Amino acid sequence: MSLNYLSPILCFVLALSFGYVSAEPSCGGDSLFFRPNSTYDINRRLLLSTLASNVSSRDGFYNVSLGEGTERIYVLGLCIPGTDPKVCSECIQPASDGLLKNCPNQTDSWDWRAANTLCFVRYSNHSFFTQIGLEPTQQEFYDIDVTGDAAEYKRSWEGLMERMIS
Ligand SMILES: *[C@@H]1O[C@H](CO)[C@@H](O)[C@H](O)[C@H]1NC(C)=O
Ligand SMILES: *[C@@H]1O[C@H](CO)[C@@H](O)[C@H](O)[C@H]1NC(C)=O
Ligand SMILES: *[C@@H]1O[C@H](CO)[C@@H](O)[C@H](O)[C@H]1NC(C)=O
Ligand SMILES: *[C@@H]1O[C@H](CO)[C@@H](O)[C@H](O)[C@H]1NC(C)=O
Ligand SMILES: *[C@@H]1O[C@H](CO)[C@@H](O)[C@H](O)[C@H]1NC(C)=O
Repeated sequence: MSLNYLSPILCFVLALSFGYVSAEPSCGGDSLFFRPNSTYDINRRLLLSTLASNVSSRDGFYNVSLGEGTERIYVLGLCIPGTDPKVCSECIQPASDGLLKNCPNQTDSWDWRAANTLCFVRYSNHSFFTQIGLEPTQQEFYDIDVTGDAAEYKRSWEGLMERMIS
């Protein structure tokens, strides 16, 4: 398996370890829009407003879809495995609220959060539940000089990623 393949996760883990993941959701990476107050939007609000309790009461993973045809919305919420339900809920809820607040009309939006756990919320008008998605991605930059042995750094990094994949 190529390591590039995992770069979104890798970047996220790197960003997390330096504690500066942004609290901004990513709205509509694919530039598709829905009409505010359309069925899609109403279902979006309905599902996001109750997502946190359903994710946390189902051991940190929950997917749901609602609506017909082009108005159908697919929503997924997850916390890292083993997260306490309350902690999970306290991560999913602001992520869901933030998407509703900050993404008024973007069809495919998502948010990664690092609170006392890691969590992820995404919705789209197509099903992404059993797919390996290379998109969307989010880059975070670490702009402080790293000193030391670059080759050793790369070896350690790749070792960590191999263990994470396993
Ligand atoms: C959507 O509906 C709400 C409540 O009915 C209303 O306040 C809001 O102005 C509507 N927004 C649009 C864009 O129609
Ligand atoms: C959460 O679960 C309840 C009860 O199972 C259900 O009525 C509700 O629609 C669910 N919410 C979501 C976001 O799926
Ligand atoms: C959740 O995702 C699985 C895998 O794609 C799917 O079989 C299931 O129907 C989905 N659940 C809902 C409520 O959409
Ligand atoms: C998602 O929405 C876009 C824009 O409205 C549309 O072109 C596309 O066909 C939709 N996809 C599905 C699976 O409904
Ligand atoms: C999406 O919403 C923004 C902000 O309300 C608005 O400026 C933009 O025109 C909307 N785009 C579409 C395609 O509806």
